[in-house]
Amino acid sequence: MNHVQIFVGSVVHSLSLQHLEIIDDALLIVRDGRIIALGQAASEQDILQSFGIVDYDVHQLPPDDFLMPGFVDTHNHAPQYAQRGLGQGMHILDWLDKITFPNEAKFEDPAHARRIYSGCVAGFLRQGITTASYYGSRHAPATKILADECLRQGQRALVGKCNMNRNAPDFYRDESVEASVEETEDCIAHLKSIDPAGDLVRYVVTPRFAITCDNGLLARLGAIAKRDNLAIQTHFNEAEQEMKATRDLFPEFDCEADLYEHFQLLNNRSILAHCCFMSEYELDKLSVHDAGVAHCPIANMTVGGGFMTAPVRAFLRKGIEVGLGTDSGGGFSSSILDAMRQALIASNAREVATDGTDKGLSLEELFYMATLGGARVCNFDAKIGNFEVGKEFDALWISGNASGVMAPCEPEDSTRTIFEKFLMTGDDRNINKVYVRGRVVKQ
Ligand code: GUN
Ligand code: FE
Repeated sequence: MNHVQIFVGSVVHSLSLQHLEIIDDALLIVRDGRIIALGQAASEQDILQSFGIVDYDVHQLPPDDFLMPGFVDTHNHAPQYAQRGLGQGMHILDWLDKITFPNEAKFEDPAHARRIYSGCVAGFLRQGITTASYYGSRHAPATKILADECLRQGQRALVGKCNMNRNAPDFYRDESVEASVEETEDCIAHLKSIDPAGDLVRYVVTPRFAITCDNGLLARLGAIAKRDNLAIQTHFNEAEQEMKATRDLFPEFDCEADLYEHFQLLNNRSILAHCCFMSEYELDKLSVHDAGVAHCPIANMTVGGGFMTAPVRAFLRKGIEVGLGTDSGGGFSSSILDAMRQALIASNAREVATDGTDKGLSLEELFYMATLGGARVCNFDAKIGNFEVGKEFDALWISGNASGVMAPCEPEDSTRTIFEKFLMTGDDRNINKVYVRGRVVKQ
């Protein structure tokens, strides 16, 4: 194909947790979906010559626009797309019983799955989420439809069938360990057939949480994840109600870290959602195993069990990777911009609660978690997360002066100021174009 796209204008991306790089007058060259050069616009002719490029499209960004890496949503329940906002304020197990399980049960019907999932993937792409880690429903056919839909629309994704063989209603429960495993293998095989190299879509082993999986199922899932070197996602220390129920079901384990470790579900491919309540012991366990955290600040403060502020500063201190999650149904927003703002609020509350020991998060840290941090949590960072040469071009073209509600850009504004205005006051109307592997997936 050898298609070359050249972008000229401002570029913002994270090099590390603390290091935000802003390049004005940047030149970013993408060939066949991959970044082959990032430099200064003044060097355009030299770079083109050095790569022997003669045929290309040039995109000149206007002064109030910039490019940034796509958002990574590390925790998202796709079937909850149509129930977002419902049951806010309920405790987690009541919310699952009353709102979520009846809703997710509808995905037994493939036509329903097709309709909701096509809207879900398009909706999250529109919000600039170029990579999502999706929980499907418990149904294999619907989960395969979700993976097909990600591939069709061009969204990078981890996709997993929810495993749940107990403590769920008869109408929404895997029949047995064997049935649950069989459906999981069916989904793994399907994903391998539609994307053999896992370029865009990969399977993620998805025990919903320990409450809905018995020991036999957890052991089988741990073995499958190990066999195929697969990502793993589950809910971890989300709320008091959930933690107590887990202790009652598994008296042999002192904490969830020990439990998941025992079943080979705690390692550097694990994406642990929420992690609201963490002892030093569990923080150390996560750190030793190099597990990642999907921080879901909106869900933590609305659904689940009150005003829960996860110890994000403690994760960062221990070197534990943190990404952001919308949680879909668990919160009220599908926007990683909203998740960043809520993460800021939660971290400020935590600063007060810890008498200043755990400082609130900076803009650099929030942006890192929304992009490179999320990519690291999902183990996609060799391919995406920032604009390092060699990575694939998953990007958002942000327009500072699009009609909407973003704080207006002033002539004297630096790129840093426009960037800050977008993060704090912009929305999807400012996300002008979305690219995944160089392909426009929202225009
Ligand atoms: N724990 C188990 N299932 C769920 C879910 O769907 N959402 C949230 N927030 N927590 C859970
Ligand atoms: Fe969740």
